[in-house]
Amino acid sequence: MEEQKRYGHFDDQHREYVITDPKTPWPWINYLGNEDFFSLISNTAGGYSFYKDAKFRRITRYRYNNVPMDNGGRYFYIRENSPSTGGNWEEAWNPGWKPCKTPLDFYECRHGMGYSRITGKNGVEASVLFFVPLKKWAEVQKLTLKNESAEVKRLKLFSFEEWCLWNAATDMENFQRNFSTGEVEIETSPLEGLGGATIYHKTEYRERRNHYAFYHVNTEIQGFDTDRETFVGLYNEFANPDAVMEGRPRNSHAHGWSPIASHYIEVTLQPGESKDFVFLLGYVENEQDKKFIAPQVINKEKAHALIAELNTAEKVDKAFAELCAYWDALLNIYHVKTGNDKLDRMVNIWNQYQCMVTFNFSRSASFFESGIGRGMGFRDSNQDLVGFVHQIPSRARQRIIDIASTQFPDGGCYHQYQPLTKRGNNDIGGGFNDDPCWLIFGTVAYIKETGDFGILDEMVPFDNQPGSEVTLFEHLKISMDHVINNLGPHMLPLIGRADWNDCLNLNCFSWDPNESFQTTENVSEGTKAESLMIAGLFVVTAKEYVSLCHKLARLSSSQDTALAYEAEADRMAAAADAMTEAVKKHGWDGEWYLRAYDFYGRKIGSHECEEAKIFIESQGWCTMAEIGADEGMVAKSLDSCKKYLECEHGMVLNNPAFTKYIYEYGEISSYPEGYKENAGIFCHNNPWVIIGECIAGRGNDAWSHYAKILPSYVEEKYQTLHKVEPYVNCQMVAGKDAFRPGEGKNSWLTGTAAWMWYTVSEFILGIKPDYDGIRIDPCLPETATDYTVSRKFRDAEYEITIHPNGAQKGVKQIVLDGFAVEGTVIPYTPGRHHVEVVM
Ligand code: GLC
Ligand code: GLC
Repeated sequence: MEEQKRYGHFDDQHREYVITDPKTPWPWINYLGNEDFFSLISNTAGGYSFYKDAKFRRITRYRYNNVPMDNGGRYFYIRENSPSTGGNWEEAWNPGWKPCKTPLDFYECRHGMGYSRITGKNGVEASVLFFVPLKKWAEVQKLTLKNESAEVKRLKLFSFEEWCLWNAATDMENFQRNFSTGEVEIETSPLEGLGGATIYHKTEYRERRNHYAFYHVNTEIQGFDTDRETFVGLYNEFANPDAVMEGRPRNSHAHGWSPIASHYIEVTLQPGESKDFVFLLGYVENEQDKKFIAPQVINKEKAHALIAELNTAEKVDKAFAELCAYWDALLNIYHVKTGNDKLDRMVNIWNQYQCMVTFNFSRSASFFESGIGRGMGFRDSNQDLVGFVHQIPSRARQRIIDIASTQFPDGGCYHQYQPLTKRGNNDIGGGFNDDPCWLIFGTVAYIKETGDFGILDEMVPFDNQPGSEVTLFEHLKISMDHVINNLGPHMLPLIGRADWNDCLNLNCFSWDPNESFQTTENVSEGTKAESLMIAGLFVVTAKEYVSLCHKLARLSSSQDTALAYEAEADRMAAAADAMTEAVKKHGWDGEWYLRAYDFYGRKIGSHECEEAKIFIESQGWCTMAEIGADEGMVAKSLDSCKKYLECEHGMVLNNPAFTKYIYEYGEISSYPEGYKENAGIFCHNNPWVIIGECIAGRGNDAWSHYAKILPSYVEEKYQTLHKVEPYVNCQMVAGKDAFRPGEGKNSWLTGTAAWMWYTVSEFILGIKPDYDGIRIDPCLPETATDYTVSRKFRDAEYEITIHPNGAQKGVKQIVLDGFAVEGTVIPYTPGRHHVEVVM
């Protein structure tokens, strides 16, 4: 293996990852923004911004898969002319090293909670703090220039942003139109009470758009550019734009082609002096009748108001302090002290942060997801919720309603919806038969966290059609029924287009490379393809649903309603029992659970198969469901995961890998060995087995699986090999059959975040929200020592100290505020509480 280099380190005290070498093996990014305005930013200031929807409302342009990688972003170019440089204008440099790549005396990028601070030094020091203030539709870029030398420094400073023509898809393809539509307005003379200069991007505002963007700086400028080719020069690159190379702006006014925004500022710094500049990339929407103040002149009132709120370093510092306080509060809801910093930093900082990011973006916008292809996933968003619900329950509540509103009356659902419109996405449609179950999974997690049973009475439409509303509870019911109504010949759930594994396409039968594996069903008539993964998922979900119904029966004000809930509980308990029996009878292969039956009723994931004899998903879900536990199936299945799936970097999805395309199976067999769904370490499903281990009480095994994919452990050993960000999980790590096992891909937006959180917070550390309180049930390695979790829960705050005493599982005694508690649930009461737990 090649030498493993380090590119940075964790700074837990500041909740930052500090990158000290700009040449990371892949761009290492961060996310800015909380609710509406978002940015992606790499460690060299690459990336882009958008409002709500990375496809429909893209503010700045980004070129994917570029050469060099990660080109384009928010750039500051600096040139210096000082006595010590001989009175010449020195070559240009950037605080983030790129794009000029002029060697720096010092470079550092600190990715923190909702902000990034990039500092470069080349004679003077230039430090840029990037963040999106709470509730503001803008990205702040506070640039601080510092002269620590003994001489006067004269500088030329150019800013740079490139506008995207809003729809990120057409922006990349419809040039016959795009090159004629671009429009800008420029405001250079200081306005009353509001100095500075602003460049407005208003393409298509004259017709159907009621929004524009702007790029402002809070100081007087000595020039500007808004036309890309004039600024850069057609044969140049971002690294050597004409205007910067010649040290003079062109004051260009874009008409069509590619509009940009660049300010030119001349700066003089006395010895020891430092100066702040606030740049602001903002977004504004106007009412239809208030779009213009004169023919062709846009109404800038809201832009001016936004600028006025953020046009001094003091105002910006205050907004930054608010953002930090916001994250402090969020990260104080669940806080652990185990004494193991690798565990503590992931639980207390990065895992929770990644959960917020996946909640916000689902699988839409990362450096692997273009922001164009996929909106919010039905199953994905429900799973993300489980990692996020303790942070801001009110947003989770809204999300549940939004998701349920895309369901169909038969319980099926759109597989994805667009965040801007909240409408189901017709291109992908529905037919993924695991989808409905996840709605229950998400909703139950929400109610357990909040005690808000009222959400079940919310009236929620089907397919967003007004007039079609039924209660959310009814949506849960039809979700369960959708599984029951779609059983195959072995009384196991029909898979549809695919289950959780998007690539197990058992009705696809495609020889046409232009067909999508996900949306094509060449032979669905008479399908028999069944999924053991959905079977396990159904049993787990049904148990949750049954206990919810019992709870609702107890809460009912009338006896009739109570009886109806009890009857519903019995109905579903019977369905779960029947499913359990079906799995035991038709889903057990001797050493592990089968994965599926194909269209012809042949086994998938069996020792009888030539390849892919065992799959992880059904082991995870059937062990979580404890199917056949008494008969020893659970323990055998978990042992088989260790024996056949585990490798140095985690557990692979299937084993052995497929070596050829099997057209009865679809996309799964299309990937080369060891990648993605073909025997990659699909991190998302490792936690399922880990939870299975925890339920079975095997703490040593649970921990060793967990630590293998925990980013902080990987960071220490494999930064070069792993390639992607060391502070978050990625979707997939190349498996043992791959060319480079251990290489990570698809970082950030993955269900792994929520599942890692759910696993460690509830099953390993054992703090589980429940309807009536908090259940304490840790599952630990024997080596675990005493630890404390502070947990805010509804209106209570618990300080829980666990004494494992070498046990892997089993709580012997719980003492709440000095009194022994019966069982393992601490009953909820508001206030501060002290809990001691002995295992
Ligand atoms: C991707 C999808 C997710 C799917 C998984 C496995 O992560 O976002 O929905 O379950 O792949 O195919
Ligand atoms: C591909 C990927 C899978 C993803 C799906 C949907 O099949 O392998 O991970 O979920 O596309 O975009």
